[in-house]
Amino acid sequence: MKVTVVGAGAVGASCAEYIAIKDFASEVVLLDIKEGYAEGKAMDLMQTASLNGFDTKITGVTNDYTKTADSDICVITSGIPRKPGMTREELIGINAGIVKSVSSSLIEHSPNTIIIVVSNPMDTMTYLVHKTTDIAKHRIIGMGGALDSARFKYRLAEALAAPISDVDGMVIGGHSDKGMVPLTAHATRNSIKVSEFLSDDRLNQVKEDTKVGGATLTKLLGTSAWYAPGAAVSGLVQAIACDQKKMFPCSTLLEGEYGLNDLCIGVPVVLGRKGIEKVVEIELSDAEKNHLHESAEGVKKTNGLLEL
Ligand code: 2OP
Repeated sequence: MKVTVVGAGAVGASCAEYIAIKDFASEVVLLDIKEGYAEGKAMDLMQTASLNGFDTKITGVTNDYTKTADSDICVITSGIPRKPGMTREELIGINAGIVKSVSSSLIEHSPNTIIIVVSNPMDTMTYLVHKTTDIAKHRIIGMGGALDSARFKYRLAEALAAPISDVDGMVIGGHSDKGMVPLTAHATRNSIKVSEFLSDDRLNQVKEDTKVGGATLTKLLGTSAWYAPGAAVSGLVQAIACDQKKMFPCSTLLEGEYGLNDLCIGVPVVLGRKGIEKVVEIELSDAEKNHLHESAEGVKKTNGLLEL
């Protein structure tokens, strides 16, 4: 199993690290445009191998896509990250050009690859890959919901004063401050609905804190977060590589599911060796449905800024 991660910045390096630590891939290629940077990150990570007990071989390359040839999975993290006060949507101008050229170079060398898009604005970048390449829709996956759900579980555990392993919950919708739809009514603590333990006000607070999860970190760190994004990507990569058939919310091209068409947005999907093996349609309340449709309008507005 060969995995390429494009972009050796904090998110890309963190992806490579978590993939290696989980030790299911034979090889991870880290590619960056900055001379020597990916090579340095790869060497540093390889020097953790004996300490962390993994055998995955991590190689760094400067913009040489021939080294990514025959990757089973490619992760695109390249582009500029958010600065404090910026929205993910404001990154579209620069990142669209980068994601378009990166995805076409990847596919040229790995025509059968599955692509995971992390670059922001992620739902629109995922849509861009659909529009500008000819690979099948089940092989193009946007990473947002897995991260937003992890942040949701963190906030739920905090509100419940419970360990995170006690809680479960999912965030669907667009990967944006306004567009996220944390499914509070479906969230549970050991199979009991969290509404049994938390007031509506507290649950609302959890929801709002989840939606600005990325912005809160950007303000604290001065740039966007990397540990949870890297860990979330590694979870998707592992589910595909190990054919786990796990369910995650991922951004995928919708063609009528949830009453939505011609956009990529986060909904529950099953991931296995083929990529997205199923889009799961769950029953939503009217409020959740409306929120998802509003979120879709926001994503479509951002898609409208693409020069296709
Ligand atoms: C975040 O929410 C990187 O968009 C990502 O932190």
